[in-house]
Amino acid sequence: MAASPLTKFLDTVLDKAVAPGYSRLGYAARQAWWPADPPADALAGKHAVVTGASSGIGAAISVGLARLGATVHVVGRSAERLEPVADRIRREIPRAEPVVDECDVSDFDSVRAFAARLGGRTESIQALVHNAGTMSQRRTETAQGHELALATHVLGPFLLTELLREKLCAADRARVVWMSSGGMYTKPFTHDLAEDLEFRQDEYSGTAAYARSKRMQVVVARMMSERLAGGDIFVHSMHPGWVDTPGFQDGLPRFTKLTKPILRTPEQGADTAVWLCGSPEATVASGLFWHDRRARHTTYVPAQIEEADDRQILWDYCCEATGITPA
Ligand SMILES: NC(=O)c1ccc[n+]([C@@H]2O[C@H](COP(=O)([O-])OP(=O)(O)OC[C@H]3O[C@@H](n4cnc5c(N)ncnc54)[C@H](OP(=O)(O)O)[C@@H]3O)[C@@H](O)[C@H]2O)c1
Repeated sequence: MAASPLTKFLDTVLDKAVAPGYSRLGYAARQAWWPADPPADALAGKHAVVTGASSGIGAAISVGLARLGATVHVVGRSAERLEPVADRIRREIPRAEPVVDECDVSDFDSVRAFAARLGGRTESIQALVHNAGTMSQRRTETAQGHELALATHVLGPFLLTELLREKLCAADRARVVWMSSGGMYTKPFTHDLAEDLEFRQDEYSGTAAYARSKRMQVVVARMMSERLAGGDIFVHSMHPGWVDTPGFQDGLPRFTKLTKPILRTPEQGADTAVWLCGSPEATVASGLFWHDRRARHTTYVPAQIEEADDRQILWDYCCEATGITPA
């Protein structure tokens, strides 16, 4: 069934009610009206890169992209943790040839080394999924002195995208997907936030750092889509709902216990990312924020939409911190 005014209304009600929409209930309901799956061979002969591929949603995205025919580069901090995912791909999709590669996306040296290796292996990259995610209860700094959530979710992915830009441009309507979180709705991108990107001023909390950096992903993805317009690269952000993964269990143990029966499977959490990478509908526009195959508002109320000057502060900081001058 195609989306009608009624199904759009129902979908929006699910969204606003949060729990039904974010859980597996929302996933099941929306399947009845959401857009078609990508063509079965949408990524045949193409390369796709998935960070945070060793676990949870990233592992499921990797399998989903391999099913569409992609050579998937499964990326994480440990080859040992990535190998079982590559084995699963080979087992489930015998024609697939996944490539395991290590990269700590929070460490710029590691990102640069990975981009160089990848650049030597492929002429073009059709899909880049920034899925790696983390939550630390204490304020931690990376090798280059950046707050961990900011570096993992924003700065590292920003740098990686810029380093792979030529390879993305060489593909056919390449996709860059930023895996954000519904938690970002709790942290509008205010001027105060823009002035304290490294979370030095306010009292640190892991969940706040996570939500702030997930908000920044949405802002940066939008700006990147504008900068890359005309380069045949489509940049989107999304949230997967509530998904039963090791990361979710570790980050929110009590909430996981409470919601266990209605949490999504990793495959359900991965669905929209795979769809965005393979579906022509993801190229109708760029810079949108998605959930369950539909573009969503990025704030609860329009007054929470960030100011252009604050957005620019974030963009300039990404460039300065990573030493990149985007063309
Ligand atoms: N589960 C949910 O309900 C939910 C909801 C909203 C958003 N999300 C987002 O979805 C994404 C995946 O989360 P998940 O729930 O599947 O969690 P997960 O099971 O903990 O997976 C996280 C992945 O990120 C990788 N990772 C962490 N830090 C990294 C780094 N510095 N460099 C490279 N890889 C790194 C981990 O790999 P290694 O440790 O092996 O390196 C792991 O593969 C995250 O971005 C998360 O914020 C999840």
